[in-house]
Amino acid sequence: MRKKILVTGGAGFIGGNFVHYMVNKYPQYDIYNLDLLTYAGDLTKHCGIESKQNYQFIKADIADRKAIIPLFEEEDFDYVIHFAAESHVDRSITDPEIFVRTNILGTQVLLDAAKQIGVTKFIHVSTDEVYGELDFDPNTFFTEDTPLQPNSPYSASKASSDLLVRSYHETFGLPVNITRCSNNYGPYHFPEKLIPLTISRALNDQKIPVYGDGKNIRDWLHVIDHCAAIDLVMHEGGNGEVYNVGGHNERTNLEVVKAIINTLGKSEELIEFVEDRLGHDKRYAIDPTKLEKLGWKPTYNFESGIAQTIQWYLENKEWWEQIITGEYQHYFEKQYSL
Ligand code: NAD
Ligand code: TYD
Repeated sequence: MRKKILVTGGAGFIGGNFVHYMVNKYPQYDIYNLDLLTYAGDLTKHCGIESKQNYQFIKADIADRKAIIPLFEEEDFDYVIHFAAESHVDRSITDPEIFVRTNILGTQVLLDAAKQIGVTKFIHVSTDEVYGELDFDPNTFFTEDTPLQPNSPYSASKASSDLLVRSYHETFGLPVNITRCSNNYGPYHFPEKLIPLTISRALNDQKIPVYGDGKNIRDWLHVIDHCAAIDLVMHEGGNGEVYNVGGHNERTNLEVVKAIINTLGKSEELIEFVEDRLGHDKRYAIDPTKLEKLGWKPTYNFESGIAQTIQWYLENKEWWEQIITGEYQHYFEKQYSL
């Protein structure tokens, strides 16, 4: 049976990969990509699927109630897969307000719209950062029962939206899932984030800023494995359940940067230790047992995933160059003028 799937934030990194994945895997589903096209949104990544029968783009602001409610009434979506957000921790430190508007208010508007038309399911794509930070003990992990203790304005806004999603399930019976994923990487990752920033700067022989001592740890997951996890949760996830998504690929930031530099044959002298991020979380690490029991298994480990990603950036220089030299060039100059 044909189903209408609304993907919010489908012009961004993960949403963009998810749109590709769904349009190609499910010709029987109609995929609607709703995105405001902020600095992080880019439609050129969809030029290969634009002409497909089951893909449609809608430009809209998730926090614009006057646009969102009538749109839901008109289209009567079956599923909402909600990625749209302000997603960069550094930006949430310099400008927290837009994070509150987009991530909290925007989610609430979507929940109201979904409740009004009675969707089959609302999937809220969240982050492990809502759990706060772990110490460096390698035997500690975030589980779905770890208390929410967000430390940055970004993670606080995501945790707030998670709680709103939970409340619409508990109060109104809205069918929901929340997924909390570790750090993603892969094709179309916006070049302000650590991995694409390192690749693009190394290729241009520019200094690579490593915050603090570079010993903070992130748990890296290839974006395609994240897409497969959301697909599984959408179809098989228990109503109201939260699922952590991560593949046990913990690396220090310095290990990540060195792996990229060495693969590209560049000098480690490009690394420049810079002032630490305010409130910089020490370590994130996911226990994915619950999702594995549902049937999920990642296809990439860090070595195969980073090799694929570096190759993609080498082959798609045009894509990331048009971003770092384009309309938002000043974003990169301001933050990384080392
Ligand atoms: P991104 O910044 O690359 O993309 C966000 C997209 O949302 C952009 O296309 C942007 O135009 C759109 N958007 C922003 N404000 C909007 C608004 N008001 N209305 C409509 N669209 C709007 O983000 P990403 O890295 O792809 O992350 C997607 C989701 O996954 C986010 O919710 C994020 O919190 C979550 N997440 C990300 C990671 C990661 O490592 N990137 C990890 C776990 C969870
Ligand atoms: P980032 O990609 O911003 O993701 P997040 O903050 O959501 O984990 O950062 C990943 C890690 O890399 C984080 O510990 C901060 C660090 N980092 C740097 O050392 N230098 C940089 O230029 C950036 C952007 C991040």
